[in-house]
Amino acid sequence: MLIRNIVTVLIASAVQIVSGFHSLSPLSHRFTEKRITSQSSILLSRVLVSRPTLLKSTVDDGQQTLLDLFNKIDADNSGEICESELSSLLSSLSITASPSDVSALFSSLDVDASGTICFDEFSQWYSSTLSTQSDHTTSIHTNILSRHTAAQFEATTVPFQIVEDALECAVKAPNHRLTEPWRFYSLGSKSIEKVAGLVPSKKEKWSQIPGWMVFTSQRSPDSIINKENTYAVACSIQNFMLSLNSHSIGSKWMTTPFIFEEEFKRIVGISEEEEVIGCVWYGFEVGGNKGKGGTKRRKSVEDCLKVVE
Ligand SMILES: Cc1cc2nc3c(=O)[nH]c(=O)nc-3n(C[C@H](O)[C@H](O)[C@H](O)COP(=O)(O)O)c2cc1C
Repeated sequence: MLIRNIVTVLIASAVQIVSGFHSLSPLSHRFTEKRITSQSSILLSRVLVSRPTLLKSTVDDGQQTLLDLFNKIDADNSGEICESELSSLLSSLSITASPSDVSALFSSLDVDASGTICFDEFSQWYSSTLSTQSDHTTSIHTNILSRHTAAQFEATTVPFQIVEDALECAVKAPNHRLTEPWRFYSLGSKSIEKVAGLVPSKKEKWSQIPGWMVFTSQRSPDSIINKENTYAVACSIQNFMLSLNSHSIGSKWMTTPFIFEEEFKRIVGISEEEEVIGCVWYGFEVGGNKGKGGTKRRKSVEDCLKVVE
């Protein structure tokens, strides 16, 4: 257990060291290797693998499909793509790219520096982009499917970098009118002891929980905005928990009634203009949380879905 915690702490430190890479999409790896940081290069790879009208099916359907795409780009049917054809492709996809962006993208595709992109080069680039995209999708799904409510937490403190990352995800929640209604209260040991003491029978157990993040929403006199704000904060809590889960940190969304009481709000310092939405307990889960699925659901997607023609 200790080793797992140390590894997580080390990973968090490593993330700090390379935090300059945070803003880059995983799709950009191939380009960063070649020291190409052009946003349009990254955008192109995304567009090419996601635009269904351009690509009727994926490369998995066979080389013929990819060859069709290649031939479409190769407007003069020379059997190779030249820089101007690549530039036309970008324009036709409404991707704004400066001439130097186009050149950078072109040389990243032209692996043998022959001055043209042959089908082999195109196909290798496409396959690696597609597989990166697929890894990305799989890791998001795995994260969502493996998140679950943690039952018990170790006393070990979660590295702050991990919590900060999770809050960065929290503030990216969808939010109508961009009211940014969320406020976060990260409790330290003194306030944890005080709030845990509000339920004397639980004081000892709850005081051991290392992470307490209280989420509030800014109240609005407009009932619809108020509701939208609450929904947005709920999304921010989910983002927060998913980000923690991606670091193998367990969490539990908690709405035990005492968190809505005046004394709780007074200790935490929550103003009258805010409504408590929930408190997330988080920490290393006793027994580890790797590979656990969420609590079993009683309903399947079919039970819940009605397709309306
Ligand atoms: C709004 C909300 C409030 C919750 N409050 C509590 C709570 O007070 N105590 C608790 O044990 N779990 C609470 N949970 C966690 C749920 O019980 C849990 O998500 C549910 O059992 C499904 O399990 P899973 O998260 O492992 O998929 C809450 C969840 C939500 C979304």
